[in-house]
Amino acid sequence: MSVIGDTELERLLSSLHAKSDEQTAALKSFAARQASGESPPTDDEIKAFRRDKFVALDRDKAEFCYQLCRATDSRRIVEIGTSYGVSTLYLAAALRDNIHAAGGDGVVLGTEYEPEKAAAARKHFAQSGLSHFIELREGDLRQTLKRIDGPIDFVLVDIWIAMARPALELVAPSLRPGAIVVCDNTEMHRSQYADYFAFIREPANGFRTMTLPFDGGLEFSVRC
Ligand SMILES: C[S@@+](CC[C@H](N)C(=O)[O-])C[C@H]1O[C@@H](n2cnc3c(N)ncnc32)[C@H](O)[C@@H]1O
Repeated sequence: MSVIGDTELERLLSSLHAKSDEQTAALKSFAARQASGESPPTDDEIKAFRRDKFVALDRDKAEFCYQLCRATDSRRIVEIGTSYGVSTLYLAAALRDNIHAAGGDGVVLGTEYEPEKAAAARKHFAQSGLSHFIELREGDLRQTLKRIDGPIDFVLVDIWIAMARPALELVAPSLRPGAIVVCDNTEMHRSQYADYFAFIREPANGFRTMTLPFDGGLEFSVRC
């Protein structure tokens, strides 16, 4: 059993992770084609390829996010990039368990612009019994995250890399002091995250950051 401690939810999560894992080979060969520079895919091809891909957060990283949300009694959580809702379920489970432990309320705010993924995510939320902890905003995050009611305790940035900085810029004004921002694969794609790091490292933005040694690197930033 994982840190989630909920057999039914873990069964659902296992099946979703398995579906995501089945797509790993296709993702790797597509990435190799992009990197090789020979017959690189067009923007339309990239969008079409990604349309049905889970690209779910790895289990250990998702469990770590659960733990962070529990340790900080997070109540207002933002997830940048929901896809089929795998990481959302970990975040919503943490919120549910925080509420059970100490009362009160809260929300996990998710974002997804692929309608089929959003519809599937909603089914998974219903299956897990966690729907009422989640507000999924459908559409381009540059529109859907324009209004965020803070203070935000925790943010997961798990999005196509070009969107990481624009998303964080939208959420940053609503972060409470001590808020945590986690961002995936920052070691593996260091150079592509250059603009994200420029924002995180700008002293006026008030973050302290370190890259944790999860597979691909997991950026752990605190709003100080
Ligand atoms: C890496 S996946 C998220 C995986 C998810 N966190 C999980 O663990 O299951 C990134 C998702 O962000 C979505 N996305 C990319 N750009 C977006 C944008 N501008 N607005 C909203 N969603 C976007 C993609 O469709 C994709 O499903």
